[in-house]
Amino acid sequence: MTAALAIEDYAFLEDDACQARIVTAREKLGDRVVILGHHYQRDEVFRHADYTGDSLKLSRQAARSKAEYIVFCGVHFMAEVADILSRPEQQAILPDLAAGCSMADMADLARVQQCWQELGQVLDVERAVTPVTYINSTADLKAFCGRHGGIVCTSSNAAAILAWAFERREKVLFFPDQHLGRNTGYRMGIPLEEMVVWQPGKPLGGLSEAQIRRARIILWQGHCSVHQMFRPEHIDRFREKYPDTRVIAHPECCFEVCQKSDVVGSTETILKTVRASEPGSRWLVGTELNLVNRLRQEMKPKGVDVHFMSPMVCMCSTMFRIDPQHLAWVLENLVDGNVVNRIRVPEEEAGAARLALDRMLALG
Ligand code: 13P
Ligand code: SF4
Repeated sequence: MTAALAIEDYAFLEDDACQARIVTAREKLGDRVVILGHHYQRDEVFRHADYTGDSLKLSRQAARSKAEYIVFCGVHFMAEVADILSRPEQQAILPDLAAGCSMADMADLARVQQCWQELGQVLDVERAVTPVTYINSTADLKAFCGRHGGIVCTSSNAAAILAWAFERREKVLFFPDQHLGRNTGYRMGIPLEEMVVWQPGKPLGGLSEAQIRRARIILWQGHCSVHQMFRPEHIDRFREKYPDTRVIAHPECCFEVCQKSDVVGSTETILKTVRASEPGSRWLVGTELNLVNRLRQEMKPKGVDVHFMSPMVCMCSTMFRIDPQHLAWVLENLVDGNVVNRIRVPEEEAGAARLALDRMLALG
């Protein structure tokens, strides 16, 4: 082991130079390292991933990986999940610690505990409510779900997870993304008036006792800053011009956008659906720009036209922080025997979070 290399020495490296150094470091590390890449990663990083996928696919991959080092090109909660699901001798690494998720930051343990306690003033909360956290959340919230009979969901299994939750208790507290909760609940037949929004910081979340008693799903007031940019009028305008278009959106988009879409699904579902379409089809896609740009390039030679839903640039700016410079930096440090940017969830918290994740993974 030598002294750790400093990120400052990589900051001004050209992308091309980084590419070559990443390839060389990968060759030296062999199967001691696995690189996982989320679909929103920029191309210069995405091309180095051994496995790509949505949150569910990548968490399964992290759980089954044998590599000593799991380098997660994604955001913080994804690397936490990799650490929780991997074996103790494996180490999860996030190339830039500032790659967070603004939605995950919208719910924190103190406010969720406060919510739980206030719900307890109105209901027999432990018997009546299952806490369900979207995987886009901090590890301590997954641990909260583990301790209270709850579970984790992703955008690709949210309906199955809600069904699991309703088999056990009559209500669900769903955090942090109100849109995924509402869109999924509605598709399962729950009317909008039986889904209420809990506003953290307000007494009883801004709800009356009667509203809480009547609700089937209590939705945390959180959202994704990227997906909230897609609006129903973007779909209307595009359909006026191209009436034959099909629309596909991520369930983090608002209710009106999902209602107007032909297909709603995770990043993996979006890719599979568009890839399976006939030549001559046209798609309007409501999810992050890097994914859509790559899909557009891929489908062009196949005669499938892919358009981005918003006139604005909607990029996940935190995911974007993982750049070739940071990837080269973590890999070259590993070659030298130095682990930088390790993500480590304290064991007590990891154990409870694992319970909630295992309940999800057991559902298949
Ligand atoms: P997926 O699980 O669909 O990839 O979604 C992750 C995410 O953060 C979308 O914003
Ligand atoms: Fe989080 Fe939104 Fe980025 Fe997904 S797109 S990681 S929800 S900020």
